[in-house]
Amino acid sequence: MRVEGSLRVPGDKSISHRALMLAALADGRSRVTGILDSADVHSTAEVLRALGADVPLLSRDIAIEGVGLRGLRAAATSLDCGNSGTTTRLMAGIVAARPFSSTFTGDESLSRRPMRRIARPLEAMGARVELPPHGGLPMTIRGGALKDLSWTSEVASAQVKSAILLAGVVAGVRVVIEEPARTRDHTERMLRARAVDVAANGTRVELAPGHGGIAPLDTDVPGDPSSAAFIAALAALADGGSLTLADVCVNETRTGFFDTLRRMGAHVEFERDRLTGGEWVSSIVIRPQDLRGVCVGGDVVPSMIDELPLLACVAARAEGETVITGAAELRVKESDRIAAVVDNLRAIGVEAEELPDGMRVVGGHAPLRGLVKSFSDHRLAMAFGVLGSLPGNDVRVDNPECVAVSYPGFWADLQRVRRA
Ligand code: S3P
Repeated sequence: MRVEGSLRVPGDKSISHRALMLAALADGRSRVTGILDSADVHSTAEVLRALGADVPLLSRDIAIEGVGLRGLRAAATSLDCGNSGTTTRLMAGIVAARPFSSTFTGDESLSRRPMRRIARPLEAMGARVELPPHGGLPMTIRGGALKDLSWTSEVASAQVKSAILLAGVVAGVRVVIEEPARTRDHTERMLRARAVDVAANGTRVELAPGHGGIAPLDTDVPGDPSSAAFIAALAALADGGSLTLADVCVNETRTGFFDTLRRMGAHVEFERDRLTGGEWVSSIVIRPQDLRGVCVGGDVVPSMIDELPLLACVAARAEGETVITGAAELRVKESDRIAAVVDNLRAIGVEAEELPDGMRVVGGHAPLRGLVKSFSDHRLAMAFGVLGSLPGNDVRVDNPECVAVSYPGFWADLQRVRRA
């Protein structure tokens, strides 16, 4: 199988969520073009609407009239975040600074995910947060006037950092956050572009107090590197050809997978970088090569946290062993992505082993066969979908529709770039 041509993957999920939230909180009219039209982003739009923001149906080009920093109102119902951790945690920060009560709910997977990581700093700022004993959803936040916060986060999580920053912005207070490792910095960049005073220095982020409001701004959402990674992986594992992924966000807090693919031996080239709306955007050209196993750990994990299931699948076709460590966070994503990836790799004939904070995968070339359980986790379905689309393999994925969470057109795009 060869790959050929050029593909533009859908808009970045992290930036799409934030573009809607910041447009809703701005003073005036913002435009968002190229927003990701997926289930998770719909959850954010619905939650904002429930809180009184005027968010239109999602399409290629939307205009949003902001209600201002203090314009959101109590919702009549609970806030259903579906499968989306980003919606839950970032919106929790926003409503923590408003003088009313909000209850967050979600699907089975989201309801199991840890919320104490945001509840603790928001409580330290003065909000009241009620959680069930397991620390997931439903979560009720009673917001109000908040105070300054200096917080050292135990987990490297952009969602935790963003929840605190957004609470600080809406409340008009000073916050300082120190993270164990640098995580994606879209919130900081997008706030700065809207005239909010946020300074970052490595793993330390500081929001200045007393900003009056958020300036409205047009956002052109670049392609999602986490979605592009699946197509790039197929290209790297092909027998020949060359594939161009156009307009991908190449913010360095997001490109760990592409750097790793290069370390494994693939030809990966970023072409013609340009800066739009504070984010670097580039075409990425991928050409297949024989791949070898790698070790991934520590500081690079946050820059490819959502791509680690995919890396494990690519490693199954590389020469030698791949070891991923420092990635315990994978256990609290949409599924336990360590257990689920290792079990599924074994089920289709790959030698793999769970580690407490990662996994070990031994590559090979024997045909892979079997049924993969996606646990309705979009990234698992797509990672194994890449293995399933390689000639000689017979890998089927249950609930393939769950890709709609982040990449509704995934299966069609996977076919589109393949050549006999
Ligand atoms: C995201 C942050 C990451 C990532 C998620 C999106 C964001 O989660 O896994 O898909 O948009 O801030 P954590 O903050 O839990 O690491």
